Amino acid sequence: MSSPPFKLAPLDSTHDRASFNCTSEPLNRYLREQANQDMRRRVAACFVALTDPQRIAAYYTLGSASLLLTDLPSHISKKLPRYPTVPAVRMGRLAVDQAFKGQGLGGALLADALTRAARSEIAAFALMVDAKDQGAASFYQHHGFIALPDSPLTLFLPLASIKG
Ligand SMILES: CC(C)(COP(=O)(O)OP(=O)(O)OC[C@H]1O[C@@H](n2cnc3c(N)ncnc32)[C@H](O)[C@@H]1OP(=O)(O)O)[C@@H](O)C(=O)NCCC(=O)NCCS
Repeated sequence: MSSPPFKLAPLDSTHDRASFNCTSEPLNRYLREQANQDMRRRVAACFVALTDPQRIAAYYTLGSASLLLTDLPSHISKKLPRYPTVPAVRMGRLAVDQAFKGQGLGGALLADALTRAARSEIAAFALMVDAKDQGAASFYQHHGFIALPDSPLTLFLPLASIKG
């Protein structure tokens, strides 16, 4: 199946949030009921992939976070300064509408999130994610993310090697 061209943009009130349908009801509900409010309060930034000016095919959110140095694998933490935490950008949610799954959109949104995080003037060591289950964690590992040794559903990808 060939996929239509997508436009990536910050969520705004003209986008049709009601018709978005991925397999996870909490992720549908978040877009419908919470995302705009989180944007207004600067608690999360929500970005959408649009197939036409209103139709949302996929979305993700970004916010500030930090990682405890002691939670990182030792081969990575030993190369970092001895601060208690390092700054990170959290991708809180990522969801693709069922009609658009398996067409590369999830991977494209992940790449967009990595680029946005890497080109920011505010330093962040990594993009981190809290995967909702092992299936989602496999998706991130497929894209090079590393699981925290003691919390395998939290994964991160260092940003130093990403071209912003
Ligand atoms: C996980 C999800 C975002 C993937 O989106 P998608 O658009 O269907 O995935 P893509 O077509 O972009 O797949 C990109 C690559 O990831 C791989 N992939 C997809 N899902 C995977 C999984 N669960 N485990 C391992 N690899 C996976 C694909 O095979 C593809 O590989 P390739 O680039 O080598 O061909 C989507 O299935 C989804 O919205 N799921 C429900 C919500 C969810 O689980 N969100 C995760 C955040 S908690």
